[in-house]
Amino acid sequence: GAPVEVDISTLAPGEMRTVEWRGNPIWILHRTESQLAALASNDSELADPNSNRPGFTPEYAQNEYRSRRPEIFVCIGICTHLGCSPTPRLENGAQPGLPSSWNGGFLCPCHGSTFDLAGRVFSNKPAPDNLEIPPYEFSADGTRVIIG
Ligand code: FES
Repeated sequence: GAPVEVDISTLAPGEMRTVEWRGNPIWILHRTESQLAALASNDSELADPNSNRPGFTPEYAQNEYRSRRPEIFVCIGICTHLGCSPTPRLENGAQPGLPSSWNGGFLCPCHGSTFDLAGRVFSNKPAPDNLEIPPYEFSADGTRVIIG
């Protein structure tokens, strides 16, 4: 299929947009400074904090933010357990079904797998892997994400 181009020039910090690519939801999240700063504090609770497992993290996203640009997170919004689409829970702090130390992320409604704001899975949950990062790049002027 053709690549999908998404204008992110109006995507404010803290905002998320969902687009479709090859029948899958693609999440594009503009992470704030504080959201980025909080990621490292999740590491000890994650199954694969450095995304070393093969298959779901392209080379350009094998970094602490799992992204080409730290603030812009792009991933396939499909749980790596049995394929449900997790729900964004972007706010910090206690919310139904989430630990009080929650730093924002995604909660799968099917069997409770949780992922942080880099799509990294928490280790006590059924999903075996981090959320998949699709092939993508930025336009030369940085205002668009090109997926596929
Ligand atoms: Fe997401 Fe099972 S499909 S936890």
